[in-house]
Amino acid sequence: MKLNNEQKKFVEDLLGKMTLEEKVGQLNQESPSIVGGFDVPFEELIEMLTDGRISQEEFGRIMSNATRDYHEDDIRAGMVSSFLESDPRKINELQKIAVEETRLGIPLLIGFDVIHGLSSVYPIAIAEAGSFDDELMEKTARMAAKESRAHGVCWNFAPMLDVARDSRWGRVSEGPGEDPFLASRFARAKIRGLQNGSKKGEDYVAACTKHFVAYSACEAGRDYNTTSMSISQLYNVYLPPFRAAMEEGACSAMASFNDLNGVPCTVNPYTLRDILKGEFGLEGFVVSDANAIKECVTHGIAEDNMDAGIKALNAGLDIDMGTRIYYNHIAEAVKAGKVSMETLDEAVRRILSVKVWLGLFENPYVDEAVIAAYEESIPAEHRELCLKAAEESVVLLKNEDDILPLRKDKKFTLVGELADRADEVVGAWALGWKVEDCVCIKDGLKEAGAQFDYYPVCGPEGEINEEELKAAISSDSDIVIAVVGEYKSMSGEASSKADITLPGQQRKMLSELKAAGKTVIAVLMNGRPLALGWEAENIPAIIEGWHLGIQMGTAIAKVIFGEINPSGKLTSTFSSMNGQEPLYYNHPNTGRPGSKSKFTSKYLDAPVEPCFPFGYGLSYTSFEYSDLKLTETDSEIQASFTLKNTGKCDGTEVAQLYMQDVCATLVRPVKELKNYARISLAAGESRQVTLDLKKSDMGFYDNQGKYVFENGLFRIYVGGNSADVLMEEIRI
Ligand code: BGC
Repeated sequence: MKLNNEQKKFVEDLLGKMTLEEKVGQLNQESPSIVGGFDVPFEELIEMLTDGRISQEEFGRIMSNATRDYHEDDIRAGMVSSFLESDPRKINELQKIAVEETRLGIPLLIGFDVIHGLSSVYPIAIAEAGSFDDELMEKTARMAAKESRAHGVCWNFAPMLDVARDSRWGRVSEGPGEDPFLASRFARAKIRGLQNGSKKGEDYVAACTKHFVAYSACEAGRDYNTTSMSISQLYNVYLPPFRAAMEEGACSAMASFNDLNGVPCTVNPYTLRDILKGEFGLEGFVVSDANAIKECVTHGIAEDNMDAGIKALNAGLDIDMGTRIYYNHIAEAVKAGKVSMETLDEAVRRILSVKVWLGLFENPYVDEAVIAAYEESIPAEHRELCLKAAEESVVLLKNEDDILPLRKDKKFTLVGELADRADEVVGAWALGWKVEDCVCIKDGLKEAGAQFDYYPVCGPEGEINEEELKAAISSDSDIVIAVVGEYKSMSGEASSKADITLPGQQRKMLSELKAAGKTVIAVLMNGRPLALGWEAENIPAIIEGWHLGIQMGTAIAKVIFGEINPSGKLTSTFSSMNGQEPLYYNHPNTGRPGSKSKFTSKYLDAPVEPCFPFGYGLSYTSFEYSDLKLTETDSEIQASFTLKNTGKCDGTEVAQLYMQDVCATLVRPVKELKNYARISLAAGESRQVTLDLKKSDMGFYDNQGKYVFENGLFRIYVGGNSADVLMEEIRI
């Protein structure tokens, strides 16, 4: 985000005209409050939800029935800067008040959670990053930006960049997985896609990188829980995608709920001022997460709301999402000298700058004709892009005896409640879709011309329907496709789980089908890596389908029938058993790596190895890596190798380069991803491939947060996943 001199002057002139109250107003984000149909203020309703007095279902019911207060009077008084909304006509109404009825006519910044698409929902991030296709990731973000902007949303609360190593944490679904290098490439692609569209205001929005920072390191994988870590771990694992996003010019960041080493990130001047705004040079602003300023009182870091507001603003948190603490207390705090006018001005300047960069002063309204077209139908090219993204994100985990692909004329039985749930394909954080646009797996198979009988039998909750199971077993086809996994509500925010094996009776269903002599193909639909020890041992073919978005059913059918040769890879390690979590490939070495000996780092009752490693994914063809050679230049190491398609069909391989710093002043990971490329090869074709490793990427951050490169011995690995690799050593 860069402003020219004229734009900068515009911001300064505007700032010069603002009263104290108007400045405070620019720090306030509102969302529609629920009034009527309920007796308590909206804030209390939120508290009732968080302390369990009302259930999520009751909350949802109240939200959908109650009348809403859009705070028009506050907007008119210049006391609202930003609004959380996605209804385009309502947005036009609110903008009109802000632009035409306030003293200074400052437009509203309309923010919304468009995490993986608005109407055109594409795969959840943990899946899409597994395409290892940066161009695709950029294109889907551009599509989301275009749809958002058409609806009046100009600030997307994405990308979510939390590097996640613990699959118990429900929010693993929203981010690009466990690797900081892949997450950084994902971050760059997403910022380019969201922000670098044509500046005519049609297809770019302000990105909001989140959650800053280390939210995913929550102890025991429990959402919102405390985090503590060394500075080197913070810098090497959790900060890299945010640094990359800032280098691409990301406009904003959302502070995370958690405390980091004892200081909640909402009021943390070290992370917000020193690192994000100082070292990384964020030019836009920081927003709190929902209700988070108030929660600093519960954390026990502020005595009351005013104290929390003062601490947050002084720490560098510019916009208050949802608590009105800035609205209620900051003017008084400035008058009392507890927040300086410079601090307030700096926050307002950052927010106004983003509004100017977005072109909102020239063009604040939505074109209702464009909206009408969207309401009619999603653009065909958006459906196609959702399909391509879904196809590239599917991961083939197991395919014993080449069971897959199936011939279309081969009859099979389809089971699993999830197969027929079009409303479940979109994943946990999708808000603008219509069920008519979603293709469930059953319909995808039907449209592909498949011959099958369908029995739901069971889903992620509830009992097995014995009648249906009996019918599935006695059907004349010996192949059963079982769609199993998680409801979308089982991942995402506030959805941590202690048991990450297949939920409910689904494993029992698989086991009974197997015992009846059926050849079972499992298609997984889930938001987190599941512990798949039993399935990997007992089920001959497994497709990881994640929550692939509106085109899930079509993509899965194409994979099943071989019209698409799967090329997706895992962005997270999969455990065999629950107790292995957190399990990730790029762990530091111990002095006693797990082995057959008892006195090594392992479990007595579980393997130390993953069920499926990071970077893993099969194809209907096979690839062979050979002849790894390393060449050193002044600035990089070039790893050259031969990649051969040794199977019978064309395919695409994601070739991966890893390194290990064998001896350093801090214990380094056993492997670190440092480059990758998607390579398509015809059956039988081989190609000489070179992947570069920049020397400037071979160092690490020490415990002062300083980047160091230490000469010495390095191991360089290449392969199709993080475990099966060729290796060569080089001394630098
Ligand atoms: C989530 C954020 C989200 C915000 C606004 C919070 O509960 O943590 O990721 O952007 O709500 O909806």
